[in-house]
Amino acid sequence: MNSKIFDKKLGIIGGGQLGKMLLSECNKMNIYTSVLDPNKNSPCKNLSNKFYCGDFNDYDTVYSFGKDCDLITFEIEHINVDALESLEKIGKAIYPKSKTLRIIQDKNLQKSFFKKKNIPTSNFEYFKSLDELKKSIEDNKVKFPCVWKKTKFGYDGFGVKILNSFDDINNLPNSEMIIEDYIPFEKELSVIVARNVKGDIKCYRTVEMEFNNISNQVEYVISPGKISEEIDNEAQKLAIKLSESLDCIGLLAVEMFMNKNKILVNEVAPRPHNSGHFSIEACESSQFQQHIRAIFNLDLGETKHSGSAIMLNLVGEKGFKGKVFYENLDEVFKDKSANLHIYGKEETRPNRKMGHVTIICDKFEEAYKKAKTLKDTIKIKTK
Ligand SMILES: Nc1ncnc2c1ncn2[C@@H]1O[C@H](COP(=O)(O)OP(=O)(O)OP(=O)(O)O)[C@@H](O)[C@H]1O
Ligand SMILES: [Mg+2]
Repeated sequence: MNSKIFDKKLGIIGGGQLGKMLLSECNKMNIYTSVLDPNKNSPCKNLSNKFYCGDFNDYDTVYSFGKDCDLITFEIEHINVDALESLEKIGKAIYPKSKTLRIIQDKNLQKSFFKKKNIPTSNFEYFKSLDELKKSIEDNKVKFPCVWKKTKFGYDGFGVKILNSFDDINNLPNSEMIIEDYIPFEKELSVIVARNVKGDIKCYRTVEMEFNNISNQVEYVISPGKISEEIDNEAQKLAIKLSESLDCIGLLAVEMFMNKNKILVNEVAPRPHNSGHFSIEACESSQFQQHIRAIFNLDLGETKHSGSAIMLNLVGEKGFKGKVFYENLDEVFKDKSANLHIYGKEETRPNRKMGHVTIICDKFEEAYKKAKTLKDTIKIKTK
């Protein structure tokens, strides 16, 4: 055992909840960490060895942050990728690599990559501006319903809109976009796959994401998903193919649609992902532990788990914006199968991810019932 494994200084770009959970694994192994985030009250502020407050979209900020580190990773994809490429050129290890991030950052490049590699995905077209889109609609080249996606800087469903008619384009921003075929899917699935520097790969089981109908955000993540073994295997195979073809070192989250027992890949994220939080308590190696192992080129950990795990996202209640107040949080502790995570964000706003609870039971029905009850009990409001 080489005790110098963790002599490298690790830079983490992004200091939200994903960074916080990544740091908790780093802290276990005494890895030296620096975090860059624009929020001076970031949840990571007091958990890393060094904290830099700065804009991760700014070239100079990212470059000078990275110069002080040996190995750099990120917990958000909307960062200055040119700076990462320059850092690679001066010998810094950036995992996932800048070339991987560059493809994923732009939904047009990402979807074009899927097509090129024969990864099943919905058909789509790229438009430079709203005028181009309007012209195409007037020429009857666009079928409704369809899905509008901003090519860059979308997150948590912002930057995605289902278009039912010409009128729906009126309030769209005039930025580059793709228009995708609308997929009437039965389920949304996700696979978290990890790949280390020497190319070893391991997947977690395929999970199912249940969405809130009104906010269109993930409410519950169910692991393993209630799907056939064939679908589970096929989804994992696709995730492995994507991780390898993108040459992704570290975690890759692959979001998919299941329709009539067929899978279409929706999008990928080269980082820890909300759909992998169940692994913290359910698996021997959490997605965060696995990411550290992958980027430090260590053996990957065990990903299977027994029983049924359900992760419930705790989001800001509608109608409340300001200093956060957690209502009925103590209810979680009455149930020994429930595990609470609070992200430490000072301010709440409608649908903002503020924490999560993972419930692990022998049977799915039991875990699901408990998750529903907690969802109705815990409310995230303001004082
Ligand atoms: N082609 C499609 N057909 C039907 N529904 C879609 C389609 N594309 C996206 N959606 C719906 O919109 C949601 C958000 O889309 P997508 O995941 O591509 O965007 P995002 O902004 O990156 O979201 P997030 O950050 O939440 O993952 C999907 O989870 C799905 O529910
Ligand atoms: Mg998504």
